[in-house]
Amino acid sequence: MRKVSVRHHYAESPMQAGKKWDNVYVETPFRYGRKPSQIAKRLAAKIRPASTVIELGGGYGRDAVFLAKRGHNVISLDISEEARMAGIYFAKQEGVGDRIVFITKDVSAGLELGSVYANAVFANLFFNLVEPEQVAGLLKDLGGLLIPGGRLLFGLRTTRDVDFLEGETVFDNVKNCSGFTCYFYDDAEARELFMGNGFSSSRMEHTQETVAVAGKETTADLYIFELVK
Ligand SMILES: C[S@@+](CC[C@H](N)C(=O)[O-])C[C@H]1O[C@@H](n2cnc3c(N)ncnc32)[C@H](O)[C@@H]1O
Repeated sequence: MRKVSVRHHYAESPMQAGKKWDNVYVETPFRYGRKPSQIAKRLAAKIRPASTVIELGGGYGRDAVFLAKRGHNVISLDISEEARMAGIYFAKQEGVGDRIVFITKDVSAGLELGSVYANAVFANLFFNLVEPEQVAGLLKDLGGLLIPGGRLLFGLRTTRDVDFLEGETVFDNVKNCSGFTCYFYDDAEARELFMGNGFSSSRMEHTQETVAVAGKETTADLYIFELVK
């Protein structure tokens, strides 16, 4: 296992992270493009029609817009206020402003959302930003938000990902990705942390997907997870 206590020291505080992500979205608006992610397109078929979907780290809502256009209602959570404002504008422009609620929220701090229950929780390019120590607690909270049979769907970048192979090492499997602390996983660690955890079934699959960041395309190496409550 990793040396948790030492690595912990390197993570940004939520306030620092929020400000840094604000700057990213001010400097590169629509950083990941306006089109949905390949992961969203791939996993959308697993979401039942007319669902309530909670998105984690949804940015300015390119996947929320895609899911709303498929008939879902989306609650998109992100730590960046800039992302929220851009999302409101983008969703309105795309004609689905009434189907998406954008909320500025540090997801790692707990997920009390009142009486909201979801059929699905979705996340793209998000879970690698969560400190491994916080994963179990977050999965527990997410389980509490899902209705029975509801699905948690997300991708997780692996230690075969280009950002891991070429990135500046912070500690063990922790890298500095464009100024953000990123946690990468090999097969055993991904299974240990993300499978089970109170879900009735868990599937993990290896894949590669094209990701465009600020107009530059790379191939991300990922595990895709489908956890069913
Ligand atoms: C790599 S971006 C991906 C954005 C979006 N999922 C997409 O694919 O367009 C990661 C997002 O996670 C958000 N984020 C990072 N840490 C977060 C946290 N603790 N709580 C909520 N959002 C967070 C960032 O603000 C950023 O928008």
